[in-house]
Amino acid sequence: MGEITNVTEYQAIAKEKLPKMVYDYYASGAEDQWTLAENRNAFSRILFRPRILIDVSKIDMTTTVLGFKISMPIMIAPTAMQKMAHPDGEYATARAASSAGTIMTLSSWATSSVEEVASTGPGIRFFQLYVYKDRNVVAQLVRRAERAGFKAIALTVDTPRLGRREADIKNRFVLPPGLTLKNFEGLDLGKMDEANDSGLASYVAGQIDRTLSWKDVKWLQSITSMPILVKGVLTAEDARIAVQSGAAGIIVSNHGARQLDYVPSTIMALEEVVKGAQGRVPVFLDGGVRRGTDVFKALALGAAGIFIGRPVVFSLAADGEAGVRKVLQMLRDEFELTMALSGCRTLSEITRNHIVTEWDAPRGLPAPRL
Ligand code: FNR
Repeated sequence: MGEITNVTEYQAIAKEKLPKMVYDYYASGAEDQWTLAENRNAFSRILFRPRILIDVSKIDMTTTVLGFKISMPIMIAPTAMQKMAHPDGEYATARAASSAGTIMTLSSWATSSVEEVASTGPGIRFFQLYVYKDRNVVAQLVRRAERAGFKAIALTVDTPRLGRREADIKNRFVLPPGLTLKNFEGLDLGKMDEANDSGLASYVAGQIDRTLSWKDVKWLQSITSMPILVKGVLTAEDARIAVQSGAAGIIVSNHGARQLDYVPSTIMALEEVVKGAQGRVPVFLDGGVRRGTDVFKALALGAAGIFIGRPVVFSLAADGEAGVRKVLQMLRDEFELTMALSGCRTLSEITRNHIVTEWDAPRGLPAPRL
C-alpha cells in the first residue's frame, strides 16, 4: 500500500482485496445507480465564496450532537456486516470512532452485537434500527442497546423493502460462512438463507415490517427513553411530520443510493429539509461525503453534521482499525483546512453565504443575501 492521501483511494484497495460478492455489496447502488453518481456529482456543482484576511490561526471544529460533545461534525453511518470487510469488523470501527472523539452508529445488521461493541470501551454510540414484523424482537433489541449504553436510535425509514441492487442479485449475495447478524443470533433470525436472488432482499421481505408508519415513531418512544433520529428523510413535508412525531433529529439520507433510484442527491435535498424542520430539530446528512469540502458545503446548507458510510467499510477492508482512523483523520484535516481557507474559525461562522449553488441567483445579478 503506497501512501494514502485521500478517502477515495481506499475504494480501489478494497476492490482488490475483497471477494467480488462482498465488494459489490458494499459499493453498489440501486438499479441504474443514477443517484449513486449524483450523490458525488452534486457536491462538485457547489462552489465556495471564501472570505479573506480573517485570523484563522485557531480553528475549533467541536460540536454537540443531542447533547453529546464531539470533536468534529463528522460521524459514522450504520453499515451492515462489517466483518465481511475485516475480521475485527465493528470492533475496529468502534475503536476508531472513539479515538477520533466522534460518534459511531451501529447497524441492526452488524456482525457484532450491541454488547460486544459496548465492550470495546467508552465511546458515544447510536444504534440503527430496522423494525421487524415481530415487535417483541424489536422491543428486546432496543432494550439491549439502551442497557449497553447506546445513546440514540437512528430509525431507518426508507427500507420497507430492499432496493434493487442488481450486483447482489447476480452474485446471489448471502452472508459468508461463519458470520451472522449477531444482534439476532439468539432470536433465531441471525442467518440469511440463500435465495434465487439477493439473500438479503429475501431476508428483508420475510422479516421487515412493511406496515411501518409515523404512529410507530410514537410506539418506539413509548418503549425507550433514547432520542430518535429519523433516517431517510428527503422532503420538507416529511421533515415537518418528523418534528410533529417527536423525532429528536432528522438524517437526510438516500441510504447511499441503495433504495429508490432517481431520488436527488442528499446535498440537493438538504436545504428543503432544513427549511421543513424550521430549526426545531437538528438536521444531519449522509451520502457521498468524501472530502472536507463536502462537509463544509453540508454545514453551509444547514446540516448540523454529516455521517460517512462506504469510506468506513473500504478503509476497514484495506487496513482495519488503522484504516478507519486514517479516514477520520484525513476528513478532519481537510475540513479544518477548508474552514481556514474560507475564513471560518468555528462551525457557527460557516454560513449560507460561504457557498454558491446552481439554484442561487445567477452571478452578475444583484448580490447574494448578505
Ligand atoms: C448502508 N446503509 C445502511 N443504512 C442503515 O440504516 N442500515 C444499514 O444496515 C445500512 N447498511 C449499509 C451497508 C452498506 C455497505 C452501505 C454502503 C450503506 C446506508 C448508510 O447508513 C448511509 O446512509 C450511506 O452509506 C451513506 O452514503 P455513503 O457515505 O456510503 O456514500
